[in-house]
Amino acid sequence: MRITRSGAVTLNEHTGAQVRRLCAVLGLAEQADEVGAVLADIIGPAGTRALDEPPLWRSDVADDHTPVEYSVAFEEDGTHTLRLLVESVARKPGPTANLAAALSCLDRLAQRYPLALDRFDAVRGLFLPDEPRGVFSLWFSIVVTRSRVAVKIYLNPEVHGQAAAPGLVAAGLDRLGLTAAWPDLSSHAPRPTSTLDRFSFFAIDLDDTPRSRVKVYQSHFRAGLRELTHLGAACPLTDADVLADFDATIGGRESYDGRPLVTSYIYLAGQREPSGFSVYLPVRDYVPDDAVALARTKTLLCAHGFDAAVLDRAIAAVTDRPLESGVGLIAHVSLRMGRPRPGVTVYLSAEAYAVAAPGGVAAGAA
Ligand code: TRP
Repeated sequence: MRITRSGAVTLNEHTGAQVRRLCAVLGLAEQADEVGAVLADIIGPAGTRALDEPPLWRSDVADDHTPVEYSVAFEEDGTHTLRLLVESVARKPGPTANLAAALSCLDRLAQRYPLALDRFDAVRGLFLPDEPRGVFSLWFSIVVTRSRVAVKIYLNPEVHGQAAAPGLVAAGLDRLGLTAAWPDLSSHAPRPTSTLDRFSFFAIDLDDTPRSRVKVYQSHFRAGLRELTHLGAACPLTDADVLADFDATIGGRESYDGRPLVTSYIYLAGQREPSGFSVYLPVRDYVPDDAVALARTKTLLCAHGFDAAVLDRAIAAVTDRPLESGVGLIAHVSLRMGRPRPGVTVYLSAEAYAVAAPGGVAAGAA
């Protein structure tokens, strides 16, 4: 059962107010106007619709189809990074039209920011066919720190269908000068002959700095700590004990049979082994409500020496509903190990359209 929101506010008004409050509580107030403007530009025509109309497009960014999701990264230096995952929605949405909208948005972003598009240009022929398949073809991540706003894009390895995904990832790495990464990556497949491990995102930073990264994400259905440990061993900086604590604190399942565990490998230029390994746990499928999700997440933050009160403030910036009244506000919790930035990230839903009713533990996708 879902509780549908109503009211005359528009999607842009709803998310714009959340962004302003998030920036304020994360020490990023100076960036708020700029981030709000960039967000509205990416969302496009869907943003001016009132929230009592149904979503223009059933975006997979969030469970209720809001085309925006927030995340707060807790950094080791005590600062916080705000990130927005956003899908461009065309006036008449569909896979091809949304891709065209996203590409014209990228042009505008490139006028606004000094984006390095060479790596995007190297792989776009692989990942952006005329008739894309799968749930999305190009998503944006807007990364907000005190010093700047950066842009990252997510491409879909299943854009030519599920069976073609491994070949696409291998070819993408090859075109980015990471040819040696593929055999190493595939040798760490936790269940080599099964289709339970699927490539879900291929992400590239669009900034031209030495920290510019390529990230390869996989979704692991019906997996657990055993598979995570196997995957993590590909990265020399993975700490198996920290990983086990994360799994026990946030999920505590032998096997995650609802939404899948997700992992990513981070590659810096020319590497064979990943310099970083992250795990994303879809906590919302493994708790009765958001109050429980918050308690677990705060335990993790404290264990890592982070200020958990910042998460309370970030949540208050996004919603004023009682946390026991729904589930899915905290969508994922992630652990980042290795370089460039180890830490914990918490993913927060905008809940523009709906809040999932509490109680549905491990019920799978709604
Ligand atoms: N909503 C999708 C999911 O939960 C995609 C997604 C959004 C996602 N943010 C994410 C996946 C963070 C992994 C981690 O799968």
